[in-house]
Amino acid sequence: WPFYAPLIFAINRLKKEKDAVILAHNYQTPQIYHGVADIVGDSLQLAVEATKVRQQVIVQCGVHFMAETSKLLNPEKTVLIPDSRAGCSLASSITAEDVIAMRQMYPGVPVVTYVNTSAAVKAVTDVCCTSSNAADIVNRVDGDTVIMIPDQFLAQNTAKKTHKKIITWAGACEVHETFTAEDISELRHAYPTAKIIAHPECPPEVIDAVDFSGSTAAMIDWVKSNKPPRVVMVTECSMSDNVASETTGVDFLRGCNICPHMKRINLENVLWSLHTMTEEVLVDPAIIPAARASVERMIEMSR
Ligand code: 13P
Ligand code: SF4
Repeated sequence: WPFYAPLIFAINRLKKEKDAVILAHNYQTPQIYHGVADIVGDSLQLAVEATKVRQQVIVQCGVHFMAETSKLLNPEKTVLIPDSRAGCSLASSITAEDVIAMRQMYPGVPVVTYVNTSAAVKAVTDVCCTSSNAADIVNRVDGDTVIMIPDQFLAQNTAKKTHKKIITWAGACEVHETFTAEDISELRHAYPTAKIIAHPECPPEVIDAVDFSGSTAAMIDWVKSNKPPRVVMVTECSMSDNVASETTGVDFLRGCNICPHMKRINLENVLWSLHTMTEEVLVDPAIIPAARASVERMIEMSR
């Protein structure tokens, strides 16, 4: 931390000078999460908070689709991402043309789209969802059948919480798809007293084997309110780092993967981004109204 102090100091000073706010996802490193972020959260919380921002500049410490969502909700503001190559295997698994083809294959079936997608995909969607409201949104859209894209595992995990038929897409999160039921039984064997919690982007057999599953914010809340003596957070590695420094009496065991996209963001490029006002995130004005409506419908339906 002493090594980071000058960078943290410089970023916090530049934020004021540039009238900027930093929105950071729960998978960001502790130096970003605790050192420079103004607002931290899961995808839903960041989208909701983006609607309330008063500053002229938003610096998104997260991946590109998150910055696009902030831009959709604040088209008149400057939205920056410190490294625009911060992508997502889910967002890159599907295009707007794929969604249009699915709609033709299943006419009239509503399309519920995970926020981990491009603005172009959101623009041909009926309503977005996140891992914290997926079952609620699916239950609230019209009809007995729903197209839920692009995360096959989130869709399969959501299917267990609804009576509706869910049509899926073959996307997966590269960080969560590699966890297996065997990993969980090995963890149980090695640490019999530990609680194991996982993100719903994991395959269903992993979710079936753990003690709790929820969005990143729900996982953090679960640890803080249950205070298990030992816990494994089966998700991105920064989660444990960030919560550990806020929680006493909990021993955080490792069983995590790193998201290379989230880790493209660091203090150096946050400082550079604010200093040079780059890289600006732009969304084609022609698709903003439709993409924004899908996000706003989700926010409205999650109230
Ligand atoms: P949530 O923070 O919404 O649970 O999403 C996790 C994730 O993988 C975001 O990229
Ligand atoms: Fe995408 Fe998975 Fe990384 Fe989240 S953790 S940004 S879903 S690749």
